[in-house]
Parts: sequence; C-alpha cells; structure tokens
Amino acid sequence: MSGFTDIGFRALCKRFGADVLVSEFVQSEPLIRDRERTWRDVDFTPEQRPMGIQIFGAVPDSMARAAALLEERLKPDFIDINFGCPARKVVECNAGSSLLKDLPLAEKIARAVAQAVVSTPVTAKMRLGWDSQSLVHIEAAKRLEDAGMRAVAVHGRTRAQGYSGEADWEKIAEVAQALTVPVIGNGDIRDAATAARRVRETGVAGLMIGRGALGKPWIFREIKAAIAGEALPERPDAAETRAMIFEYAAKLCATRGADGAQNLRWMLARLFPFTAGIPGGKKLRAAIADCTTLSDLKAVLETA
Ligand SMILES: Cc1cc2nc3c(=O)[nH]c(=O)nc-3n(C[C@H](O)[C@H](O)[C@H](O)COP(=O)(O)O)c2cc1C
Repeated sequence: MSGFTDIGFRALCKRFGADVLVSEFVQSEPLIRDRERTWRDVDFTPEQRPMGIQIFGAVPDSMARAAALLEERLKPDFIDINFGCPARKVVECNAGSSLLKDLPLAEKIARAVAQAVVSTPVTAKMRLGWDSQSLVHIEAAKRLEDAGMRAVAVHGRTRAQGYSGEADWEKIAEVAQALTVPVIGNGDIRDAATAARRVRETGVAGLMIGRGALGKPWIFREIKAAIAGEALPERPDAAETRAMIFEYAAKLCATRGADGAQNLRWMLARLFPFTAGIPGGKKLRAAIADCTTLSDLKAVLETA
C-alpha cells in the first residue's frame, strides 16, 4: 500500500507471519530514469523474501524496461503489475484501474512485462472492473493469465466504488474458479475469523491483507492460527506496541537518511495506526505529533 508498506512496516508484517510481501507501487518511468527515491521505495532486505515489487504504468515498453531493470538489480521474487489503483493521478495516466477499460492494452502490458524478464514470475493485481455496468473480472483475469501472469490478486470492488461498500467475494470466487493460476482474494479482511471463512468459501489460493494490517501487523499470525483451527496467539501489549512504534520510526529514519530524521512529521500517518489499540491512544497520538526528533519520540513513548 502506497504510503504505508515501506521496508520498516514490511519487517513487522514478516515478523508476525506474513508469508509474502509486496512493495508500495512505483511507476515504471522513474525507475527507468534512475530516480533515486523511487529505487529506495522498492528496496527490501533478504529477510523480506519472498518479496514482490509492484509497478504501474500505461506504456508496455516502459513497463517491460522497468521490469527488466528490477530483475537485474534487485532480483525480487516476483514483479506485480497494478491494474487496480483508483487514484485520479494514476487513472489520468491511463494506468491502474483505468486499464480495466482497455483490456487489450492491459494484456499487452502484462505480456510485455512477462517477456522482458528472464526468470522472475510476473503477477497482476486487479479490481472487478471500472464500474458496476462494466464488470470484466473474468475476462480481465483470463486475459492476464493468457499473457503469462503466474498469479492474479483480485480486490473485489470496482474503480467507481473506491473503498466504499463491501468487497464482493462471490465475484472473487468466480475468478478463482475460472483461472488455472493461483488467485489471491483481497478486500475487507480485518479479522482472523473472516479470513478463515473466505478461504473456506471461495477457493482462493491465498489472501491479501491491506488496511487490516495497518497498526496491527500481528493480524497475519492470527489469520494463520484461525485457518489452522488453532487458538489465536496473544496480541502484543501496550508496552510492546510502544516499543514497536519506536523501532519502526527508527527504521524509517535510517532509510531516509539525515533529512528524514530532522523532522518526524512525514512519518506520522505511518505511526498513528499503531496507537489505535493502546489505552490513551488519542493522547499518545497528540504527543507523538509534537515530536521533532527520534529522542523526543523515545521519551514520549516511554512516559506519555
Ligand atoms: C492508502 C492505500 C494505499 C494503497 N496502495 C496500493 C498500492 O500501491 N498497490 C495496490 O495494489 N493496492 C494498493 N491499495 C489497495 C489495497 O492493496 C487493497 O487492494 C485494498 O485496500 C482492499 O484491501 P483491504 O480491505 O485489505 O485494505 C492501497 C490502499 C490504500 C487504502
């Protein structure tokens, strides 16, 4: 998730049981232009494998070149193509969910990327369609499979829905039925019981968790326990969560270098979700928002 699943957050997800991690999405052109910040955004540690890097774009040749560069420089375990982002600035470039209105181009992009890499599996992430009048989930998924996608993740909403309403897991199940490659179901999984039910009822090969992991990276081990029919493990207590917030902030500072450590404002949105489950979370959020440096933050987390 753009703005959230950075290297530090993914480390926490991994610690708490996430089997597969994916980077924030990045556009193909800045990778080709060698923009330092974009390359930094897709960096990962060996412990984070199996690790996927997600790219978006509308030009098959650029997407292919970006994928080849990623394979050569970072050797991710897979490269994922975004066909789902509803954001205006992405759609206006004719990328993300906009490609669900032009399936021949979506297929062309997928095929170009799959052919540009030597040995890296390429996967796709999509929505159900542009809007409820143009549901293309089955046709899109089949075309992507034909183009060489080795797995397809489906977020059970249309672009028009944005993040409103509910993900339609019946349609996700239809895609799982229609494809030979693994289909990963995505949308609105916020607790372990729902996750286990989705696996039982839909025939998906895996689950993708987005917002449900924000501030709660332990959701992954809870889900695995529920699927295995085991009791849910205990959650980290408030002290452990506070320590986790500091560890995460320190990692973010280390990643961004001196600039990032000068003022913590830029990372507040990433830290705040962790305060939701802590007693006095609102007060803690206000205190964190007042911090300028990591040592301020340490003091606040140890005392507030
Ligand atoms: C802030 C935010 C950023 C996101 N960024 C991405 C992204 O970069 N790539 C992507 O495939 N999906 C992205 N998504 C969509 C999620 O991956 C996911 O499909 C969607 O939120 C539904 O799943 P969830 O209910 O588990 O969050 C983003 C969602 C949010 C809320």
